[in-house]
Amino acid sequence: MNRALASQQAHYEINKMSTQREQPSIPLIDLATQSSRIKEEVLARIGRVIDKANYILGEEVAEFEAEFARYCGVEHCVGVANGTDAIHLALRALDIGPGDEVITAANSFAATALAIAYSGATPVLVDICEDDFNIDPVMIQRAITPNTKAIIPVHLYGQPARMQEILAIATRHDLKVIEDSAQGHGGELNGTRCGAFGDIACFSFYPGKNLGAFGDAGACVTRDARLAEKLQLLRNYGQVVKNRHDLLGFNCRLDTVQACVLLTKMQFIEEWTEQRRQVAQWYREELANTDLLLPIERSGARHVYHLFVIRHPERDQLMKFLAGRKIFCGIHYPNPLPTAQPFSAARTIPENVPVCTQLSGEILSLPMYPEMTREQVATVAAAAEEFGLMTVRG
Ligand SMILES: Cc1ncc(COP(=O)(O)O)c(C=O)c1O
Repeated sequence: MNRALASQQAHYEINKMSTQREQPSIPLIDLATQSSRIKEEVLARIGRVIDKANYILGEEVAEFEAEFARYCGVEHCVGVANGTDAIHLALRALDIGPGDEVITAANSFAATALAIAYSGATPVLVDICEDDFNIDPVMIQRAITPNTKAIIPVHLYGQPARMQEILAIATRHDLKVIEDSAQGHGGELNGTRCGAFGDIACFSFYPGKNLGAFGDAGACVTRDARLAEKLQLLRNYGQVVKNRHDLLGFNCRLDTVQACVLLTKMQFIEEWTEQRRQVAQWYREELANTDLLLPIERSGARHVYHLFVIRHPERDQLMKFLAGRKIFCGIHYPNPLPTAQPFSAARTIPENVPVCTQLSGEILSLPMYPEMTREQVATVAAAAEEFGLMTVRG
């Protein structure tokens, strides 16, 4: 290599290093930072479980269940293995199965509809409201048939679904309501917490959720003692006492070790939720001059910003541009559920969910986690602004 070329190469390497130093990457979520704060306490709790060897349904599970029920404002919580199992068991507990139809949102994570399919019922996937991405009560009403047994509203991205309208429809048609609150921990509508609206509400504690375990975990919460008892049997082989099986149960209990993580994190859930809301506020301020369409917060709703989802007509190019600036985003979710192979037998065709279909090509989840700083938010906003200027100039 000649000297000029070598010097140019050296300059390039130095520049590359300094840009790397100037802008560390911004991930979609950052679990490691949060975990480092609670690691010691989690390890101490897990250490006690190891000493007692009470790995299955140890007292930490009951302790967490009592705390989480209190947090949701209901009487009962039954810890299960994950959020998908929570929805499946809720349907079983309500005796919903083959021949029944269950209405849910076409833009949810696939697990909502998969759980309906596990029960033997038919998922009916309906369109959403354009303003807040949540299930549209008008579409629920239109989808009701004599076979409809339940509605599963999803508190998508952390914004409570329109529960007043949904509960009114359910009462009129004698339908059960199961909340999919996998993204709604701590969300509120007119002072009522997500989890306290339906017959049963289902939570996921997947690591990236607002309350996340160190692996898979989930829970059902309910006000109804009889349903809670049935859920306890369903999660534990249908066993009333050891080796007496009174109903077709499953093995999907919450691990004691995961309950230790969740118990530790419960102390911080409100603090982390407020931090998420602060990050959302910063985004609103910093993104005000961009062409991104920002999420709304409905009147009376406490949005808990599991995700901060914006809209942009050139979503894919924007996502690529931000990735080039080491800002990593996500899409929740890129494909409407009626397009997925397992739901081809569902009563919905993609053409019936135009809002969901349109939005699936425009939505983008920006980085969002409680520990995000205003500086990081400003960096995302500056890059989004730069993208806007570039596209205007052509
Ligand atoms: C809306 C929704 N429903 C259900 C689930 C399923 O939860 P899990 O992954 O814990 O089974 C998830 C999360 O993954 C979700 O986001």
